[in-house]
Amino acid sequence: MTDNTPFLPYGRQSIDDDDIAAVSAVLRSDFLTTGPEVAAFEDAAAQHTGARHAIACNSGTAALHLAVMGLGLGPGDAAIVPAVTFVATANVVVHTGATVIFADVDPDTGLMTPETLSDALARAGKLHVRAAMPVHLAGRVCDMVGLNAIAQDHGLQIIEDACHALGGTYAGTDGAEQNVGDCALGDAATFSLHPVKIAAMGEGGFVTTNDDAIATTARRMRDHGIVRNTEGFTQNDLAMTEGETNPWYYEMPSPGFNYRVPDLACALGRTQLGKLDRFVAQRHQLMQHYKDRLAPLTPIVKFPAADATPGTAWHLCPVLIDFAEIGKPRGKIMAALRAEGIGTQVHYIPVHRQPYYRALSPDLGLPGAESYYARTLSLPLFYEMTIGDVDRVVDTIAKVCNLT
Ligand SMILES: Cc1ncc(COP(=O)(O)O)c(C=O)c1O
Repeated sequence: MTDNTPFLPYGRQSIDDDDIAAVSAVLRSDFLTTGPEVAAFEDAAAQHTGARHAIACNSGTAALHLAVMGLGLGPGDAAIVPAVTFVATANVVVHTGATVIFADVDPDTGLMTPETLSDALARAGKLHVRAAMPVHLAGRVCDMVGLNAIAQDHGLQIIEDACHALGGTYAGTDGAEQNVGDCALGDAATFSLHPVKIAAMGEGGFVTTNDDAIATTARRMRDHGIVRNTEGFTQNDLAMTEGETNPWYYEMPSPGFNYRVPDLACALGRTQLGKLDRFVAQRHQLMQHYKDRLAPLTPIVKFPAADATPGTAWHLCPVLIDFAEIGKPRGKIMAALRAEGIGTQVHYIPVHRQPYYRALSPDLGLPGAESYYARTLSLPLFYEMTIGDVDRVVDTIAKVCNLT
């Protein structure tokens, strides 16, 4: 690597002049938060996903928390979460007082499958399992038709953690392409617009749902659990004076959070959503090139999904590497790639192996998750990468893994 070879991170945002102009306009406006950009962003998010409601909030984690609260999850309930995900998917369940049951994943995709969901249900014993939370890892969408059929049989609700899959599509019941987040086969879906994701708003996210009750609860819990709508008021003695609603009055039936997202971030989110199709198409092209270039390195380095459709919104490029066969540990390969200007990351340490969850289920063994975790490495993938950058990454992998 020469001194002016650019460093390729595993992910990064793409910001144009129109994004900067949109944020600047908000800075010059009256509302930095709780202003018109929030509703405009929500309208755009609803339109992009095809869901009836989109509720904007300040992270993908907040979106997940609002979704589980929207379902009314609480003490005595349980939710099934795949072991390979970011900790947030499981943690929000804990925050409601409900129990997490970890499902295993397919060893080659890292996804929860109908089989691993059924296995987790069988392990649930007497727990009252209310929800399944499939994660569309790296942008690859789970088998929603299969998961939905099991959910129907067992009376489960589904929250899709689509934090990696903004702008993607999936095969619906009749095989037709549907938008991720349309909630045709689930009750709610959650998205993150963290800068390493497909579109950026700094910190930000949203929940989609077609269920009015979930949407109402999510909106209320986003704002401290407060009701500002006169129809929701229950205490006329405080709400009314001489037959008129007091203009300052609000009510809080149960405590919520400040998960509001400022107009500044929503303005950025909206310009980014406007470019989503372009973002997804470029990522797809880069992944196609990765697939072609990595083919000669198979089976030591495996491309994640040869069968991915053009509608797959790839957030990550997680290849599977047989480190044992190469004879070098993953950390050494990552360090060697970094020395050549190539950033990589591991998505994810299986969540049931985190100390908090491990203490609760010390003997839980999930072989699919272990196998996936042992081999996965996320290579650079972001909108501004070029085909030449992909060539450089693959050539460098071949070199540091001694595969040339
Ligand atoms: C699968 C998954 N779910 C949820 C989140 C949380 O999103 P955020 O960082 O916006 O809170 C992340 C973030 O990386 C994620 O990868």
